[in-house]
Amino acid sequence: MAEPTRIAKLELDGKSYDLPVHSPTLGPDVLDIRKLYGEADVFTFDPGFTSTAACESAITFIDGDLGELLHRGYPIEQLAEKSSYLELCFLLLYGELPTAGQLADFEARVTKHTMVHEQMHNFFRGFRRDAHPMATMVGVVGAMSAFYHDSLDINDAWQREVAAIRMIAKLPTIAAMAYKYSVGQPFVYPKNSLSYAGNFLHMCFAVPAEDYVVNPILAKAMDRIMMLHADHEQNASTSTVRLAGSSGANPFACIAAGIACLWGPAHGGANQACLEMLREIGSVDRIPEYIAKAKDKNSGFRLMGFGHRVYKNFDPRAKVMKQSADEVLGLLGIENNPTLQVAKELERIALEDDYFVSKKLYPNVDFYSGIILDAMGFPTSMFTPIFAISRTVGWISQWKEMIGEKNQKIGRPRQLYVGAPKRDYVDVRHR
Ligand code: ACO
Repeated sequence: MAEPTRIAKLELDGKSYDLPVHSPTLGPDVLDIRKLYGEADVFTFDPGFTSTAACESAITFIDGDLGELLHRGYPIEQLAEKSSYLELCFLLLYGELPTAGQLADFEARVTKHTMVHEQMHNFFRGFRRDAHPMATMVGVVGAMSAFYHDSLDINDAWQREVAAIRMIAKLPTIAAMAYKYSVGQPFVYPKNSLSYAGNFLHMCFAVPAEDYVVNPILAKAMDRIMMLHADHEQNASTSTVRLAGSSGANPFACIAAGIACLWGPAHGGANQACLEMLREIGSVDRIPEYIAKAKDKNSGFRLMGFGHRVYKNFDPRAKVMKQSADEVLGLLGIENNPTLQVAKELERIALEDDYFVSKKLYPNVDFYSGIILDAMGFPTSMFTPIFAISRTVGWISQWKEMIGEKNQKIGRPRQLYVGAPKRDYVDVRHR
């Protein structure tokens, strides 16, 4: 960490404590409170980590007020337009855009690892067919540590690298298998002549009885969806991966923890919840009823795909996703899709409504992604697994960054205890 740029003072009970202030490359300054407990015997209280930086990171930067997302300094809009998912994976993992040779080598390395251990097929067959694919993925990705013993040593840089490549390569295979299992179709092996996104579509939609040709429009749209979900600095699932990894847990276990966290409807599960909500609204004339419900605190209803902890302006990913939804549905000749019409009108009305304007609630990345995935033929239960595939590179890049840090410590927050004071045990006969 660079030297502090200035010192803040904390006055408490007549004493003064120095808090070094550090200035990042971009974003707000941070107060360094690491010595505060030792010197002043107080903790800081910040549930939800709304004001807490838990690590140093050089991977992704978000300016929530400007609605800006940068990966290694490059704006997401430029990457989404000009780059590809695997090139972005390289950038996130290694810090710079690859040369043509480096990219070809990276693509070849990932492609070689797309198959999973054959014994994993039996493992899949232990699940109920009606299990949610995310439930299956948490289990199977966690079980990778039982199949790939030669990449579990977190202190060996080469093993860390192999684990990273394995996860980027195998997550699409695992997600596709979870899908095939849930619909009672045979697993489809990866086809390494296809692109990363095209191969995923092939593993999901090919069947042995018919030839399947990947539609290049859909493969491109899938690649873009993957790019838009690749990393998002210290969000809940990434922080979960870092926390799990801080204890020295193996990378497969850490990513399984990230997948479990992602599943929640406030996080990655929102794309499924959002499309289900748009379908439930069904037609433009019912939108006011749902807007009113979202504003009523007693209803417990929130407009899914709206709002974000960090963005208090348009989520830049949502803008690209909206444009992509228009393009894909147009190219497929289904631009009059009623769900897309409801989404656009809902967005228009919400962005003019005082409640949403004053709380700075804008559409997030999940608002339009489900419409594209639906048009591709995915059931809503596959939306979050696709998010998990895409985010794996972000999780693993952040995990590698953390493991590579000098003086890396186990993550261990403290608490504001509000329970009973010390008291003596009372025998059951006297309670
Ligand atoms: N609909 C209606 N009201 C909302 C919504 C929403 N989608 N989101 C936030 N609000 C309101 C809250 O009720 C709260 O109002 P109050 O200040 O009067 O109490 C205020 O806006 C702030 O909301 P918080 O929940 O405090 O904001 P927080 O930063 O903790 O939550 C979150 C962010 C979880 C994303 C929230 O906006 C939400 O639940 N959105 C819907 C789910 C969703 O789309 N999640 C995907 C996030 S993106 C991602 O993970 C990829």
